[in-house]
Amino acid sequence: MVTKTLFGTRVRRMLIMVVAAGVAIVVGYRYTHTPQYLVVETDPVAAAAGKALALNGREGVTACVACHGANGEGNQELGYPRLAGLHPKYIAKQLQDFARDPLDVGVKVDPIARDYEKTPRIYKDLTIYSPGIRKDPMMNPIARALSDEEIYSVSHYYASLPFKADPEPVDFETLERGHELAVRGKPEYLMPRCNACHGPNGEGFGEHFPPLAGQPPRYIIRQINKWQNGERDNDQFAMMKNTANLLTDGDKINAARYYSNKSYSVNQE
Ligand code: HEC
Ligand code: HEC
Repeated sequence: MVTKTLFGTRVRRMLIMVVAAGVAIVVGYRYTHTPQYLVVETDPVAAAAGKALALNGREGVTACVACHGANGEGNQELGYPRLAGLHPKYIAKQLQDFARDPLDVGVKVDPIARDYEKTPRIYKDLTIYSPGIRKDPMMNPIARALSDEEIYSVSHYYASLPFKADPEPVDFETLERGHELAVRGKPEYLMPRCNACHGPNGEGFGEHFPPLAGQPPRYIIRQINKWQNGERDNDQFAMMKNTANLLTDGDKINAARYYSNKSYSVNQE
């Protein structure tokens, strides 16, 4: 009887230790390594050329670091996006979209597949933006000045940079509501959860779906506003536009703050 209990306790203890060690390894790995689906190959030669442009700019192009931070971490206060660790093809696509003329109504081919009944492009103030645009007074002239080669190299530079976000404190109610949008969406309006497209933890997925974790809340809110008023109109199948049109001002704040509460790292050794 005594041996049995002893044996039982010992086995149980060993089991607990094995499980605890397993959890520690998994948690430690997750914390120090980028998950496989976020690992992206970058071109080191192009990245070196891109670094020179990012740091120094050139005639007609302001240095990217002036606004996007010394290490591509973005600017929390002003809501300028982080670029470090984004997918190189996503960065390049954004620069191409910024380079289009927002008011060039003569554009014949719509680069964005869309259902025009659901996503008209004439807004309340009667502005008609051209398809596929991203309007921004700061980025439009910069993107237009870049060559294809510069877009490629600067995209690979930023994609190769490490990034680590520490969670910002957020009150419980905001967190709960943001969580609801992230993992449940609004099924009653047929709106999928944010994480269905933005990756399991909002850390992004592949070249088409950017991370929300690690982006300044102001940036997230401004992008959703831009989709609602037509100043950003560059998402395939109007996936994000249709989502944005279902969000209230409160939803925007809750989602943005929820993602700012996440710890997140990419390209860390
Ligand atoms: C004067 C400030 C400024 C400079 C200089 C600048 N940017 Fe930006 N950038 C911005 C702002 C502001 C936004 C967000 C625009 C918006 O709200 O749509 C942005 C957005 C972007 C985005 C979109 C990111 C995303 O997640 O969608 C990319 C890519 C980008 N910039 C690349 C660059 C590169 C490359 C350079 C240098 C060649 C550069 N920027 C220089 C201010 C700047
Ligand atoms: C059906 C898919 C889908 C869902 C659901 C979705 N998004 Fe998106 N979202 C996208 C795509 C695609 C893009 C990139 C568009 C592009 O190519 O420029 C995007 C881009 C964004 C961006 C801009 C990021 C950047 O770096 O420029 C923000 C902010 C954003 N989404 C917020 C949200 C939030 C918040 C939710 C949930 C309330 C959400 N999205 C749900 C597809 C989706």
